Amino acid sequence: MSQKVNIAIIKTAKSRLPETDFDNLPFGKTFSDHMFIADYSEGEWKNFQIVPYGNIEFSPAISALHYGQAFFEGIKAYKHADGKVTIFRPEKNAERFNLSAQRLCMPELPVEIFLQSLAELVDIDRDWVPAKENHTLYIRPFMFATDPYLGVTPSSSYRYMVLTGPVGPYFSKNLKVKVETHYSRACDGGFGFAKAAGNYGGSMLPALKATQEGYDQLIWTDSKEHAYIEELGAANVMFMIGGKLLTPSTRDTILKGVTRDTVLTLARKWGVEIEERRVSVEEVITAIKEGRVSDAFGVGTAATIAHIAEIGHDGELYTLPDPAQREFSNKLLYTLNEMRYGRSADEFGWNYPVGK
Ligand code: PLP
Ligand code: COI
Repeated sequence: MSQKVNIAIIKTAKSRLPETDFDNLPFGKTFSDHMFIADYSEGEWKNFQIVPYGNIEFSPAISALHYGQAFFEGIKAYKHADGKVTIFRPEKNAERFNLSAQRLCMPELPVEIFLQSLAELVDIDRDWVPAKENHTLYIRPFMFATDPYLGVTPSSSYRYMVLTGPVGPYFSKNLKVKVETHYSRACDGGFGFAKAAGNYGGSMLPALKATQEGYDQLIWTDSKEHAYIEELGAANVMFMIGGKLLTPSTRDTILKGVTRDTVLTLARKWGVEIEERRVSVEEVITAIKEGRVSDAFGVGTAATIAHIAEIGHDGELYTLPDPAQREFSNKLLYTLNEMRYGRSADEFGWNYPVGK
């Protein structure tokens, strides 16, 4: 059953907006004035609140801290030229939120409450949504286990929260990426398809090693043979090879990205031939050598459309076509921005309106 809930609102006495530099917004460091909170216990969600952004207090024994019963989502809100604010496809994130919850033995949140929490929080902080091109309000819903109990069993109490903050692009440059053939992000039967906190904790050491070798990001491969491409950092990955759009099909090791679905929907509309299947490292490297790769990019909420400029594999570095000249990914970026900032028709109904 799904219904709207009453949200208790305590507004901040003093907004931090005046001291926020909107010309300098590194990803994830600036938070808006308010945050959303709800608690789960005795089998139900309760205590819905919007309060000033600030620290929270829990027992040091909460199971989220010890056993990683925690996950999150990432979504963006856009400001249109007429001041209207819309959130991009939050229904898809609501769906995935509950997939993550199921996999981690955590309670689902009714889709209606998820959407209401986002819309009301963003509306209260709508002045925090940047008006500048390529800038957005990043929305971070998350849930974690709050039982102060060290037994390795599912918690009986949980906290759901939403933070927001204005952001610029996550990547400021085209990417030099390394095909990772030792570490894995996810494994068969694991939880790579969920936005579990632990997936990201485990990715940091391989990513750090790659940056020490001069790379910006990793292309993750399958954990059994390291022969098949899965994702690019915290984004899905796509290649245009011989005029066909090629992307790994989703499976339990791959996050089913909202941006991935968005791009495939647009490509289908444009009549581009799409192949969603297992993509081997070998076929991509061979195609690069033969000059058949015209485009390669990561797709994600934070990443948007991130051009891959160079790929390192097996001691070789391969240079891809000049990102500025790429037809498909640049058309995608343009079309998506036009749509999300309300400058073209919202033909798929992807812009979820906030407030009046
Ligand atoms: N893959 C991973 C591991 C991610 O963390 C993300 C980011 O959310 C994505 C893919 C892209 O998903 P989406 O387009 O829904 O943001
Ligand atoms: C997003 O794209 O929203 C993500 O979750 C990536 C994030 C880990 C920076």
